[in-house]
Amino acid sequence: MELHLKDKVAVVTGAGKGIGLATVEALGREGVRVVAGSRSATPELTALSDKYDVTFVPVDLATPDGADALVRHAVDAHGRLDILVNNLGATDSRSGFLEVDDSEWRRVFDVTFFSAVRASRAALPHLLEAGDAAIVNISSINARLPYPMVVDYSAAKAALTNLTKALSEEFAPRGVRVNAVAPGPVRTPFWTAPGGLAEVMAASAGTTPQEAIDVVAPRTMGISTGRVTEPQEVADLVLFLASPVAGNVTGTEFLIDGGQAKTI
Ligand SMILES: NC(=O)c1ccc[n+]([C@@H]2O[C@H](COP(=O)([O-])OP(=O)(O)OC[C@H]3O[C@@H](n4cnc5c(N)ncnc54)[C@H](OP(=O)(O)O)[C@@H]3O)[C@@H](O)[C@H]2O)c1
Repeated sequence: MELHLKDKVAVVTGAGKGIGLATVEALGREGVRVVAGSRSATPELTALSDKYDVTFVPVDLATPDGADALVRHAVDAHGRLDILVNNLGATDSRSGFLEVDDSEWRRVFDVTFFSAVRASRAALPHLLEAGDAAIVNISSINARLPYPMVVDYSAAKAALTNLTKALSEEFAPRGVRVNAVAPGPVRTPFWTAPGGLAEVMAASAGTTPQEAIDVVAPRTMGISTGRVTEPQEVADLVLFLASPVAGNVTGTEFLIDGGQAKTI
């Protein structure tokens, strides 16, 4: 499918690894000029900069000024902005609600929700000027399936999905579509890094991290396809939504969860 994305300018947050990295690669392959923000570069992101029109910007997007600096970099470098992918989000695994104090709630909301609020606020004047523009927010299945072990993260993702609809209502009439992608488990460092969810699950199931992500997670989480999602699969959906091919799609959240959610 021709996505008609060539020469557009995109900002991707949380771009060094996982879904963000896969999205940068997919956009770069389509000829998009990508400005990629995370606190540190990874060898994989650096390699993409050699291959495509990808610029890495070191930025802490949990701070009040981070998003502004990232968007400013894109507009200064390319003179316009067409696409914003609010990919950043993070949590720690909790034992339950009583463990999470105010500072943890604030930290998770800063990274997972306010990073998207701030990036959208910084980007929207430029997206409106460009016209035919798009924001894609990476939410989570936890926006509708809130788990006690990620209670704060689930609430932040529900807020992000809610914001998606509000922004879509306000800005779709002015040429900016806003959609969300809500993945179930995805094979990223969030799971696979040392200390990640695969290790946590492996310890309680008495197995290896590899077995935990390939077998235990799909079975215990009710993933109908029997496997977790690959980052590239999320990136492909993001590209479709960011592209003019999805020109009449706005205000919607798309699950990509292998059938984990059991209601429509
Ligand atoms: N993986 C899953 O199973 C899953 C499922 C549902 C939804 N999601 C959502 O998908 C999105 C991407 O998740 P992922 O699993 O791909 O994440 P990941 O593998 O943990 O990668 C996170 C990226 O964000 C960057 N980052 C972290 N904190 C940052 C900060 N304060 N400022 C700037 N960059 C920061 C990291 O680089 P630095 O540390 O160098 O900054 C890294 O590049 C998140 O919103 C997540 O909630 C993931």
